[in-house]
Amino acid sequence: MTENLEEIGQENKIVIRDLMKVYKRGFKEVIALRGLDFEVGTGEFLSIVGPSGSGKSTLLKMLGALDKPTAGTILYDGHSVTLLDDKRSMLYRRQKVGFVWQTGNLVPGLTALKNVILPMRLAGAPKADSDKRAKMLLETVGLAPRINHKPHQLSGGENQRVAICVALANKPELILADEVTGELDTETAQMVMETLRSMNKDFDTTIVNVTHNPRVAAYADRVLRIRDGLIEGQKHTLYGDITEIDAKGRMVIPETVRRLAGLGKRVVLKATSEGLLISPLNMEEFENNNKEARN
Ligand SMILES: Nc1ncnc2c1ncn2[C@@H]1O[C@H](COP(=O)(O)OP(=O)(O)OP(=O)(O)O)[C@@H](O)[C@H]1O
Ligand SMILES: [Mg+2]
Repeated sequence: MTENLEEIGQENKIVIRDLMKVYKRGFKEVIALRGLDFEVGTGEFLSIVGPSGSGKSTLLKMLGALDKPTAGTILYDGHSVTLLDDKRSMLYRRQKVGFVWQTGNLVPGLTALKNVILPMRLAGAPKADSDKRAKMLLETVGLAPRINHKPHQLSGGENQRVAICVALANKPELILADEVTGELDTETAQMVMETLRSMNKDFDTTIVNVTHNPRVAAYADRVLRIRDGLIEGQKHTLYGDITEIDAKGRMVIPETVRRLAGLGKRVVLKATSEGLLISPLNMEEFENNNKEARN
């Protein structure tokens, strides 16, 4: 069964198919993404978790058109991001995406307030409006008393919060966040996540947030787990543990679930009125049956 990508593209903010990324370093190749398939709904808040090196930041870079995948498709509002030329990639980043990276992206010579005002002025917003919004955003993340400080006069966590305000300044449709709470204490992390959550609710902003922290991940509607460049599983606030069946009929069953159900390398599939029953294959019985069939 071939899927109708156009239809799926209309129903979702982002559609990802067979996404692969291979980094080349001299003669060595690193396969960072091995064929991801998933969608992000409009206004959805998605968390991505996974061990270090599993491909999370690579995936965000592809979503933000900061780098090109080796193969596969990314649709944004039904249009291919992967086919954009440099100029259009830049426009996509500027007009649609708010980036929040752990390393920050602040202008060192500007105060917190001016850093947040800058993207709005660049986009042509009037001075008074930009000023008001910047102050409102900085206040939301608890930085009202620090707005006239420059990055070197602020702590790592404070700079992180300013960077979030910069990303939110132009009310982007999509926010891509990479470990933004990594260096923050629990209380500040909570404040930052609540800011993202209210952006998501109030403006229908779609958010893709990468994190190691399960408590941070839990702010999302859905948590996608990746491992070795593949989707390992998902947890949805409404449906619990879910997994995807890709276009080729492949399904990843998370290791924990496999262990609990006693599933080995081969399993027996049985369609029942309740759904698909997957049970361990008894290898001894299997081989005996094979022998009998041969005799
Ligand atoms: N520019 C690059 N050149 C070569 N290899 C790279 C490059 N960027 C990432 N990789 C490799 O790709 C794999 C995935 O990296 P990625 O940064 O996406 O992981 P991650 O899930 O974000 O990890 P972490 O949680 O540590 O940030 C890793 O093996 C990494 O070494
Ligand atoms: Mg990373």
